[in-house]
Amino acid sequence: MVLLEAPKEERLKGGIPVERAILNRRSRRRFSSQKIGFEQFSHVVWAASTIPSAGALYPLEFYVVVGENAVEGIEAGIYHLVGKELALHKRGDFRKDLAEASLRQMFIADAPFSLVISAEYERTTRRYGERGIRYVHIEAGHAGQNIYLECESLGLATVAIGAFHDDAVSRCLSLPKEHRPLYIFPVGFGKE
Ligand SMILES: Cc1cc2nc3c(=O)[nH]c(=O)nc-3n(C[C@H](O)[C@H](O)[C@H](O)COP(=O)(O)O)c2cc1C
Repeated sequence: MVLLEAPKEERLKGGIPVERAILNRRSRRRFSSQKIGFEQFSHVVWAASTIPSAGALYPLEFYVVVGENAVEGIEAGIYHLVGKELALHKRGDFRKDLAEASLRQMFIADAPFSLVISAEYERTTRRYGERGIRYVHIEAGHAGQNIYLECESLGLATVAIGAFHDDAVSRCLSLPKEHRPLYIFPVGFGKE
């Protein structure tokens, strides 16, 4: 288990205004191989998962695909966010497989890590019926925008990836069948 670091008070007081992050945010697809610090990594995962949820039912499940020698203090593997901790779900560097599964958008393999947002729809549809599907997708949007803005604030690059083969991503991550992949965000330092 890897315990994530929540942002400390100094960071909450400093940083760039949210308006600056909104203004500067761009989709960035060129990643350098520079290693990401554990604190930055933690903050991106924290931002992704710190979101509103219809009926507080929290249908989203977050997986992180970490490359070899890519994030300080973390071995290559696929991790599952459980509370504030990342549980090792599968050992190894699966970035290339993830890129292949994403219609060969190979820049995904260059990013030190990718966040994969998946959803267990039934948690929300059980209460809200078909409308729950809409709620789950809206929540993925909240998570995605948080990732974009946190990356902007940390000087990191990211891009929303919606084009992928669902089955291939599920296989690559060995997702339980009720966790359906929705959205992928490769993250790293940008390369201009
Ligand atoms: C739902 C969604 C899916 C997307 N899928 C991809 C994708 O698969 N590959 C990609 O390179 N960009 C993808 N993008 C990023 C868009 O191309 C990008 O947001 C758009 O070109 C506007 O540029 P900007 O984000 O820099 O403002 C996606 C964006 C959204 C919102």
